[in-house]
Amino acid sequence: MARLALESMPGPVVITDLAGRIVYLNRAGEAAMGVRREEVLHRPLVEAFYKGEKFDAKGRYRSPVLETLETGKEFPGGILEIRAFPHALPKLYLVHTFFVREESGEVAGVCGIYNDLMQSRELTRKAVLNRLVTISQQFETIYAFAEAIGARDPYTMGHCEKVAEYARLIAEAMGLGEKEISLAYICGIVHDVGKIGVPESILNKPGSLTKEEFAYITLHPEKGASILSHISWLEDVVPVVLAHHERYDGGGYPMGLKGEEIPLLSRILAVADAFDAMTSDRSYRKALPLPVAVQELKRHAGKQFDPQVVEAFLEIIGHLV
Ligand SMILES: [Fe+2]
Repeated sequence: MARLALESMPGPVVITDLAGRIVYLNRAGEAAMGVRREEVLHRPLVEAFYKGEKFDAKGRYRSPVLETLETGKEFPGGILEIRAFPHALPKLYLVHTFFVREESGEVAGVCGIYNDLMQSRELTRKAVLNRLVTISQQFETIYAFAEAIGARDPYTMGHCEKVAEYARLIAEAMGLGEKEISLAYICGIVHDVGKIGVPESILNKPGSLTKEEFAYITLHPEKGASILSHISWLEDVVPVVLAHHERYDGGGYPMGLKGEEIPLLSRILAVADAFDAMTSDRSYRKALPLPVAVQELKRHAGKQFDPQVVEAFLEIIGHLV
């Protein structure tokens, strides 16, 4: 039964012995890595999955399981970018690693559990809906808003869900309460609702915008806040959406708020929003590699972004930094 549970996990699970040899790989692991388990069982993980190359070009461990095995550091849930095949698109996983112990307490190996962030977003969405069951119908209205934008701009739809998930993780990492954590997620979903008022030709324009076009875009926080202000149970969301393009140094819009004048959830959204924008392919440019996006966040900490929010996000990104 326990084995069946591992087999049925939606994300990859891999277990190695103390010599780093694979002793277990579940079905999702086979699919993610593009291997059959008979081919990799009892082989060293570094050879089976990483062609014997333990470290990447910057000297970081390619495998969190191996890092745990060799350094003793367990990962309690960091975001990792993993490329299953050399030409595959990298996927973001929430990774947990820990030592597997005998009943006597003796360490027998290391287990790594990977949750596809796309899938966990789906779970989060359901969890948030369940928690808000009494107002779930209203919440569905919000998804309808997000989808209405998505129908005009498919990028924005997926973007909102990722921003929501990052914002939720940051709020959690900063030790905020349950209500604020849910609120962070909801704000992520609806933050760009005001783009509904931006003409499609501007929204999907490849290349740079004219001054007038940019002016149109900058109206979307106010438009969004105004739309959402009609929904009474979303009153806490309105100021957050209104301020999601404010900058920590005061150079943002629409009000030019500075530092702690900007609501904390807006400061969280700003980091989540920028990170997803940098790591997504757009019509006018390719996605930046994760480490470059992380460098950009660090570079703008204290200027565009609240340094404490950046710090919390870097904690989630974990050892990739
Ligand atoms: Fe926005």
